Amino acid sequence: MLLVKNGRVIDPSNRLDDNLDILVDEGKIVEICRGGSEEDGVTQIIDARDKVVVPGLIDMHVHLREPGHEYKETIRTGCQAAASGGFTSITCMPNTNPVNDNQSVTDYILDRTRREGCVNVFPVGAITKGLRGKSLTAMGELKNAGVLAVSDDGRSVKNSELMRRGMEYARNFNLLVICHCEDLDLVADGVMNEGFTSTRLGLKRIPNAAEEVIIARDVLLAELTGCRVHIAHVSTEGSVRIIREAKSRGVKVTAETAPHYFSLSEEALESFDTNLKVNPPIRSVRDVTAIKEGLKDGTLDVIATDHAPHSLLEKDVEFDYASPGMVGLETALPLALQLVKEKVLSLPEVISKFTVNPAKILGISKGTLNQGADADITIIDVSLKKKVDVTRFKSKSRNSPFHGWELEGEAVCTVVGGRVVKEIDGVVV
Ligand code: DOR
Repeated sequence: MLLVKNGRVIDPSNRLDDNLDILVDEGKIVEICRGGSEEDGVTQIIDARDKVVVPGLIDMHVHLREPGHEYKETIRTGCQAAASGGFTSITCMPNTNPVNDNQSVTDYILDRTRREGCVNVFPVGAITKGLRGKSLTAMGELKNAGVLAVSDDGRSVKNSELMRRGMEYARNFNLLVICHCEDLDLVADGVMNEGFTSTRLGLKRIPNAAEEVIIARDVLLAELTGCRVHIAHVSTEGSVRIIREAKSRGVKVTAETAPHYFSLSEEALESFDTNLKVNPPIRSVRDVTAIKEGLKDGTLDVIATDHAPHSLLEKDVEFDYASPGMVGLETALPLALQLVKEKVLSLPEVISKFTVNPAKILGISKGTLNQGADADITIIDVSLKKKVDVTRFKSKSRNSPFHGWELEGEAVCTVVGGRVVKEIDGVVV
């Protein structure tokens, strides 16, 4: 048995914020109780004094790159990066090679996870075969294989009629549709946000409308079809407004943003650091403010990383040619905790965006410290100060623009199904 004691336990699924002990046996939480627990039969004790103990964090937007691009990330290294960042469950996007558009690829990912993954992995299947936007995948087969959601993440389904049919089809299998929202014609060959900075730097621009047009469309299609949709990586003020309005009318829409959309603004690109090239692009200060407001009022339910590993081959090139994406698993939590310091969110609110909210959206029995739940637990030292050092990342890739940033707060211990996968230095006995 494992005992996590003396910690401040925050479990937003139970509105819990108290000093409590957690007893774990056979991978499940058997008891949560006030201090001084019986230690009979306990074989491992984690002293969480002065730490915050929360349900294992969930990242519902990760690119694991396996199969096909193992030089950027594998299931093994992606899971290690997740555990290091405090995540006990992740969903992985289907833009692998081959694409996860059929049962055999889903089987492969799940099999590999069983052999080599130290956290829970929930695969997302494709909406269209090969992500080509031409014909729908066999979603019943994908669902039976174990996918919880479908998405063409990395690109939008351009054809609105096909997207409508995809939503109808997904709805019939009770699959969530995760929408990557970018009008590819409006994006054209743009590489950064449209504004004063893009003009000054002479970089081709992507307007906010490129994202908002498709979010508006997908919200309307969700309303038409009754399908549950989740908008990925929201980055603009207008997107927040559209989602807020749709939610107020009862449309079944939820949404996420990523840490880089509330921690960075477009001026950062003056460095020409290609790690700042991401889809959708880093936006203006005004958008950043709106994203924070969306997080605060609940329009944005989830913080997800969009962990997108790329190697130097794709990043050590001119800005126009660099692949979009940045790794995020190992910096997401401290960046999100910054919102507590800024008084945008309370600590329990931040935790809810990494736990109960994604669990509910995905329909998984995670993100809670309920008695009987899987013992997925993250222990956080909210005042630990550290400089981000990409060379210490567990991820195979190093494409983070946060290298050298002084951040506060870190997951110091991660427990998955009762197994410690990241240890507090010297404190696990
Ligand atoms: O920047 C991004 N990179 N955005 C996406 O939507 C896809 C991702 C990738 O797969 O590299």
